[in-house]
Amino acid sequence: MKIAFFDAKPYDIPAFEKYGGDYGISFKFFEAKLNSDTAKLAKGYDGVCAFVNDTVNAEVIDKLYDMGVNVLALRCAGFNNVDMKHAHGRLHVLRVPAYSPYAVAEHTMALLLTSIRRIHKAYIRSRDFNFSLSGLTGFDLYGKTVGVIGTGRIGRVFIDICRGFGMKVLAYDKFPAEGLDNGDTVRYTELDELFAKSDIISLHCPLTEDTYHIIDENALEKCKKGIVILNTSRGALVDAEALLAGIKSRKVGAACLDVYEEESDLFFEDNSGHILEDDTLARLISMPNVIVTSHQAFLTEEALENIAETTVKNLADFFEKGQCSNELCFRTGETVDCKNGKCF
Ligand code: NAI
Repeated sequence: MKIAFFDAKPYDIPAFEKYGGDYGISFKFFEAKLNSDTAKLAKGYDGVCAFVNDTVNAEVIDKLYDMGVNVLALRCAGFNNVDMKHAHGRLHVLRVPAYSPYAVAEHTMALLLTSIRRIHKAYIRSRDFNFSLSGLTGFDLYGKTVGVIGTGRIGRVFIDICRGFGMKVLAYDKFPAEGLDNGDTVRYTELDELFAKSDIISLHCPLTEDTYHIIDENALEKCKKGIVILNTSRGALVDAEALLAGIKSRKVGAACLDVYEEESDLFFEDNSGHILEDDTLARLISMPNVIVTSHQAFLTEEALENIAETTVKNLADFFEKGQCSNELCFRTGETVDCKNGKCF
């Protein structure tokens, strides 16, 4: 089977070639992102493989369908870039539901520690033999309250890490996990209480209609002065303009962003020789208390191996058995994990 692999990066290729070889699946690696202009590259292939910033809207889905391509293997967990409603009946959508929650949760803590202990500042100073400590005062995490929105795989690992630091956790989830709330160091609560009592807020929920701009002007107003916002989930969970305003007014003490609402044309690429058109991102990056990484939380050796192995197995199952346990389906009007794969 031949798969058109979009938005290929050098770090993707070795593991996909290895597992593809094991399962009889060959990949054609295209550097281009999947969108309505590039969809035609998939002509003659048995399926497509896409990542977080590929665009799989109705137009792309129709083009793939017209070319006889009926399977999309997402090499990620999130699927907010796929029009799942339109895909139903036209495109089987497979995903990698989990590949290393540790990778993302650990990166989140790395960002938090870097930010509040000013490691990013200290690193640059000491390279210039500037050993002054002025302006580098941080604060202890021990005893602080972290609000965790989304207590799925990544959120729960992040909670464990925070508990190791002696932090208190206020959690919010549309579907709370059983056995997590111990009535003491981890407690489920409503969003308003989480906003009001947290010193740090970390986002680990998917991007949906419910969670779009879950951190907006209103939410920030309810937060403590000096709130630290961590977003390693999806950019549009945070209203970037409201965040910038919060930073300017000193309400927000720090922000660590691995994702950004308008990241798709920027992140994963070297834009160092270009003029950045996005003034909001440029202003955020210019702030001393903002750290931006370019959607790299997933990027560990373990995660890359798991992503490649699961994606290839998903495709192999789909082609051999006509169904895949990691298929997503919109049959019920909401995207759900569907083990069936036979509904169209
Ligand atoms: P998961 O599906 O295990 O957990 C998501 C949790 O969010 C679930 O407990 C769910 O009930 C909850 N949730 C759903 N709707 C909600 C709502 N309206 N309000 C509050 N909670 C809600 O997903 P996982 O693996 O923990 O991933 C979380 C997110 O992390 C993904 O959706 C993805 O956007 C992001 N991610 C980011 C990566 C990166 O490299 N920066 C890599 C992988 C995932």
